Amino acid sequence: MHHFHYKEDNLYCENVPVSQVAFEVGTPFYLYSHATLRQHFRALDDAFDSIKHLTCFSVKANSNIAILRLFAREGGGMDIVSGGELYRVLKAGVVPNKIVYSGVGKQTEDIEYALQSDILMFNVESPLEILKLNEISGKLSKKARVAIRVNPDVDPETHPYISTGLKENKFGIDIDDALEQYIVAANLENLEISGISCHIGSQLTQVSPFVDSLEKLNGLIGTLEANGINIKYLDLGGGLGIIYDKETPPHPREYAAAIKRGLPSKELTLILEPGRVIMGNGGILVTKVLYTKPAGEKTFFIVDAAMNDLMRPCLYDSYHMIQPVRKSGRETVKADIVGPICESGDFFAKGREIESCRQDELLAIMSAGAYGFSMASNYNSRPRACEVLVKGDRFYTIRQRETFKDLVNGEIIPDFLEKE
Ligand code: LLP
Repeated sequence: MHHFHYKEDNLYCENVPVSQVAFEVGTPFYLYSHATLRQHFRALDDAFDSIKHLTCFSVKANSNIAILRLFAREGGGMDIVSGGELYRVLKAGVVPNKIVYSGVGKQTEDIEYALQSDILMFNVESPLEILKLNEISGKLSKKARVAIRVNPDVDPETHPYISTGLKENKFGIDIDDALEQYIVAANLENLEISGISCHIGSQLTQVSPFVDSLEKLNGLIGTLEANGINIKYLDLGGGLGIIYDKETPPHPREYAAAIKRGLPSKELTLILEPGRVIMGNGGILVTKVLYTKPAGEKTFFIVDAAMNDLMRPCLYDSYHMIQPVRKSGRETVKADIVGPICESGDFFAKGREIESCRQDELLAIMSAGAYGFSMASNYNSRPRACEVLVKGDRFYTIRQRETFKDLVNGEIIPDFLEKE
């Protein structure tokens, strides 16, 4: 369920006409629905109500501090992967003891920052990282709480670029080597074993891979206990998929039921790291048609958003539904909906059946709340779009559109290139 719907042929976000926002802030822009985001967060979080759990929103899916604040106010924690994300999360007012930190390439300064901030747990991903974390903690007279992120070698059956839990992927420590590394970590002075974690991939549309990896983790937890290593947190990562087109992902209730059935003990606190399932259908990207151009059998709709704003179609060939902001009732045509960037990869849809549209009309690229703005760039020196949050019948700009001045911020012409 989301709150983007038509009233008399006009697309609304909650009680706000999308065209009104476009009129006020210009295009392109990201538009998020507060009610949708809160509902999605609660749907997942409430599904685990009967057990001890912490829902850590995956910041990489959408890192705007207003969005992070929204989830923090719902009692959510955060899953971060960099010092930059930690900075955002703290700025959003998230309490440190609800922050978990994953990532295969954590840097010294970022580790220091996270230790100083006293975060809940580091999900470590390699033997060398274990040693490095111990060394840095020692230097700072801290004790780092760690979970080993294990790679359970389970096929998530998703796009290869977003699959992470197979042996061939760079993530985590092979589950067969995990015991050895736990023993190493347990004997290091500045580490405290706190949990076990895994994340097998994103946009999963079945529960079985989650259940399979949970089973493998259970086996390891048993072995650890037999070796005198007890853990408090079981972090299952994120990955639950959403409907972009015709997918049939499990409802969070089904996902939760399957996981609860597979949990080894009531003593453990379950950590979840959902991103897409909360954000994906809570946001859209609104763009204006700049030009229409006939090309034989098809038409090009050249719009003012581009691959720098939403990379997913060009990067993963992923599908996003595209809808007119005002339905015209005109006949449908077969169109390529493309951006202005000088690359053939700059498209949002190819050969899409869509109501014919005209210059200056608005289109909504749906399901763009997750991995939309957070992956945006300035390629072709395009200022990044603004982000707007709707609540009821009001809307709030939560990130201003970048200016040309922002584009050159930090750039320096060295003296030897001074104008003559
Ligand atoms: N935890 C970890 C350790 C992760 O690496 C990820 C996503 C998540 C949680 C959240 O996964 P989610 O619940 O959103 O599936 N850019 C790609 C998705 C990359 C996901 C990377 N890791 C896309 O646009 O589809």
